[in-house]
Amino acid sequence: MNPIRIAPSILSADFACLRDAMALCERGGADWIHVDVMDGQFVPNLTYGAKVIDAVRRCTSLPIDVHLMVLHPESYLDDFARAGANGLTIHAEATAHLQRHLAYIRSLGCRAGVAINPGTPLDAVREVTSDIDLLLVMTVNPGFGGQAFIPASADKIRRARHMLDDSRSGADLEVDGGVSRDTILQCRRAGADVFVAGNAVFSASDPSAAIGELRSAGMEVA
Ligand code: DX5
Ligand code: ZN
Repeated sequence: MNPIRIAPSILSADFACLRDAMALCERGGADWIHVDVMDGQFVPNLTYGAKVIDAVRRCTSLPIDVHLMVLHPESYLDDFARAGANGLTIHAEATAHLQRHLAYIRSLGCRAGVAINPGTPLDAVREVTSDIDLLLVMTVNPGFGGQAFIPASADKIRRARHMLDDSRSGADLEVDGGVSRDTILQCRRAGADVFVAGNAVFSASDPSAAIGELRSAGMEVA
């Protein structure tokens, strides 16, 4: 298991003050910035593209973790890498040629990530464990911030941890959706390393402090 990293999702940030939001993340000790790209097709919501990644890049030196909830993600990889993404995560459900696109992400100098929805079995990514730097197990159905963590996810995270360990993959295991002070510890105990949090950070009265509180809650000894 790798060390705990907290990745605030800017989906819940105030876009009128993006630079301030990045400063709050840095002050709170965030490890990565998570950027949710949605196309209104793969998920029932639309967000932003390369221009916003470029804006985030100019506001922070933290690694930018881009989560592509889009069909045919291969169409956007060059643009997002050029805009300053450090990691590009594509959904196993969104493309027929997963291995090819993961290899291409690495060739762009980015960390290659693959994500699976709550209803998608781990078998969908078993054959690409050597092609990834990150496995994202969704703990809500993607599309919106502020949804409730799906309780059955803990067991899936545990099985994902075993799958990565069995294949001797050093990939990070990321969880995304409903991560809060109440749910982070069960995810950590199940073997997750990277914790995306939107609502739990940006809806807090003190977002910087909320990042530290999440980290402490995830490190609580059993
Ligand atoms: C969900 C997105 C998440 C979202 C998480 O579709 O992929 O990254 O921002 O938000 P919270 O932490 O509020 O569930
Ligand atoms: Zn996300």
